[in-house]
Amino acid sequence: MTLLLKNIRAVDPSQGLDKITDLYIENGQITEIGSIDMAADRVIDGEGRLTAVPGLFDMHVHFRDPGLTYKEDIITGAAAAKAGGFTGVACMPNTKPPVDSPELIRYVFEKAKETGINVIPYACVTKGMQGKELCDYEELKKAGIVAISDDGRPVENAELMRQALELTNENGLIVTSHCEDLNIINGGIINKGEVSRQLGVKGMDRASEDSITAREITLAASCDARIHICHVSTYGSVNIIRAAKRDGVKVTCETAPHYFTYTDEKLLSRDADYRMSPPLRTERDRLAIEEALLDGTIDCIITDHAPHSAEDKADFETAPNGVVGLETSLAVTLTQLYHTGKMSLSKLVEVMAINPRRILGLPEVSIKKGAFAELCIFDPELEWTVEPEKLHSKSKNTVFKGERLKGRTVYTICRGKIVYEL
Ligand code: DOR
Ligand code: ZN
Repeated sequence: MTLLLKNIRAVDPSQGLDKITDLYIENGQITEIGSIDMAADRVIDGEGRLTAVPGLFDMHVHFRDPGLTYKEDIITGAAAAKAGGFTGVACMPNTKPPVDSPELIRYVFEKAKETGINVIPYACVTKGMQGKELCDYEELKKAGIVAISDDGRPVENAELMRQALELTNENGLIVTSHCEDLNIINGGIINKGEVSRQLGVKGMDRASEDSITAREITLAASCDARIHICHVSTYGSVNIIRAAKRDGVKVTCETAPHYFTYTDEKLLSRDADYRMSPPLRTERDRLAIEEALLDGTIDCIITDHAPHSAEDKADFETAPNGVVGLETSLAVTLTQLYHTGKMSLSKLVEVMAINPRRILGLPEVSIKKGAFAELCIFDPELEWTVEPEKLHSKSKNTVFKGERLKGRTVYTICRGKIVYEL
């Protein structure tokens, strides 16, 4: 199968590339770039508008497989990823049972083979995600793991976390941390502030996030280990991370599109689809997240794709936290940051494709002769409305429902094959 992409805007900052050109794909590889006049089994004309970037990578998704597959499974989660332009994702291990053994890691890798994209598992920091006993990182590494997380909750015992950082560092792994002090959260369901008071519901104090962010950075610095802070949502965490980076601490971090798009005002609807942890915060936080993304304090955009069924989400106060995001992430980022002139496409590629792979130590994906053809091809001008029932994900709990977005994935190519087509 040969594929010719004509008049495509190819953007890849790792190659200093941003130009309208043709790409030829054969046997899974990019074999030519430039003006190409060769026959191909399939020709796609980008008309100078369609844009090709390295396949996106989301280093923070929940595919609920094994055990909670009524919400999502590896196949449907991957379908959502492909529709969003992702050629790779890393799945959090808070499944049922949690992924904490070579057998479960093998299960994920096996099922991932059917997806046509790269689906890699995280393993837990602690056995059963119980926060009591560390997993055997050497054994997990041998099984193919690159990163470790108890995402969904923090490791509450600071000394255990310090040991985890030391041991993962020795094994060349990275810990990614869900920073929330559960004692401070104390049953809170949305950001603590004006909106929680107005609704008369228990709030989550921002100190829950800031304090664990500071703790993780202190612990990592004490043993010179790397640490990655998950889903940053507060201006306080941003300031702590920015200062730590200046001090040379090996800290990286991520945020999600909902944190630079919305505030807790969305919760006035009393709709559990707007609940996630950490929660939507205030305008001051939203602006700090945006600024930190643009100045490089925040390294990547993830989705924290966290599917929950309509039944799970029915009651505002008792519903579990989490929102889906794979199918809207690129479009929201284009709408909010690119079309407003705040973020260049090169920067977008860095935070959505290059940095996540670099943080996890995965092979880079680039647009150059001889590289594996892993591409996200999108139409930056295509406007569409988010209709939850049309999502590929099994769950429809999106905060972007009804939103008009500008920009959409049109083709996703992995290992030279078109794995998604709008
Ligand atoms: O909102 C969230 N949902 N945050 C998390 O950290 C976990 C996730 C989930 O698993 O549903
Ligand atoms: Zn989390």
